[in-house]
Amino acid sequence: MTPNIIREYDNQFSKIDDIIKLTLGEPDFNVPEVSKRAAIDSITGDDSHYGPSLGTQALREAIADFMQTRYDLTYHADKNIVVTVGATEAIYDTIAAFVNPGDKVLIPTPTFPLYESDTLILGAEPLLVNTQDDDFLLTPERLKATLDEFGDDIKVLILNYPGNPTGRTYSDEQLKTLAEVLKDTDIVVIADEIYSELTYDQNHHSIAQYLPEQTLILNGVSKSHAMTGYRLGFIAGPEDLIQGPALVHQMAVTTTPNPMAAAATVALGTPAGHQATMEMNDEYQDRRDYLVNALRDLGFELDTPEGAFYLFPRVPEAYGDDDPAFVTDLALKAKVGTVPGQAFGPGGEGHFRMSYASSKATLEEAVSRIARFLEEQ
Ligand SMILES: Cc1ncc(COP(=O)(O)O)c(C=O)c1O
Repeated sequence: MTPNIIREYDNQFSKIDDIIKLTLGEPDFNVPEVSKRAAIDSITGDDSHYGPSLGTQALREAIADFMQTRYDLTYHADKNIVVTVGATEAIYDTIAAFVNPGDKVLIPTPTFPLYESDTLILGAEPLLVNTQDDDFLLTPERLKATLDEFGDDIKVLILNYPGNPTGRTYSDEQLKTLAEVLKDTDIVVIADEIYSELTYDQNHHSIAQYLPEQTLILNGVSKSHAMTGYRLGFIAGPEDLIQGPALVHQMAVTTTPNPMAAAATVALGTPAGHQATMEMNDEYQDRRDYLVNALRDLGFELDTPEGAFYLFPRVPEAYGDDDPAFVTDLALKAKVGTVPGQAFGPGGEGHFRMSYASSKATLEEAVSRIARFLEEQ
């Protein structure tokens, strides 16, 4: 295993004086006031004892209501939900529950690097599929061809949509066709939907709608409510599938912190919490539109992402597929920090990721620095 490449670049670029860092997937907004208040009340109310391992009853009920209201998915607080320390723990718990050493985990790339690292920690084998030629989405044809080649060795498929680093997501129809291929297999689908609340121009759909018996959804409040530091996520899925991850969770962390659970309960379960997400969503969409147009005007080739808060443009032609060289030049000469596409697996080659979880003024300054850099080239 190698250390987290995104963090390495971020650390490296942090040493450059006056750099604008568009490196991390870290919302620049504050935690909604109602959530802060709930955490404070939990602390002052001496809510300080071990909670239930699966998560507090109130939070699991809020999650069940949230999944029903927002995505029309039915999960019961008592048997279908495990509250975790961020989506990060949920990723580990779910992979750990379904692989033995040597099993394969199918991971379409480019994607969040943790899936590959956790698979390796657990002694299983990441099977990285390059989706660059398919607009960064796993097609039913590529899925079928991979299953034909590796068959029963594949125990788990990890889908992340809206996706980090591309911002691409699947339409309802695309999810349906993937589910058609998967339903004749025993593969467990881990659907990392941590960016589900941040979609633009279209509503979020889940593959769980079409493959409920085989899908575990991962989500949380890190991105939707700018609560990355509160470390609250969850797993939702059918009772028989969720028992394994629930055990891993119980052995690894016992349970999540009560004040943070209280904060997440109002984030997911109150109109004020939802309003906070909608306001951030509008702001992200505005930034996305600005940045997509500005980069296209500068000659960059890129798709308009449907969600999350990242752009994934191609590097300028002069750099070929050498995204690390471009990103390094951009940091040193333009003083704009981004992440090379290769950090997200083989499908990311020749691209770079820009996060737009920064203020519009910061993005405008970044664009003018990039424009100057390109002129000087
Ligand atoms: C796709 C994806 N999944 C999970 C996470 C981690 O989420 P959390 O902060 O809730 O652990 C991230 C964070 O960047 C992410 O991009």
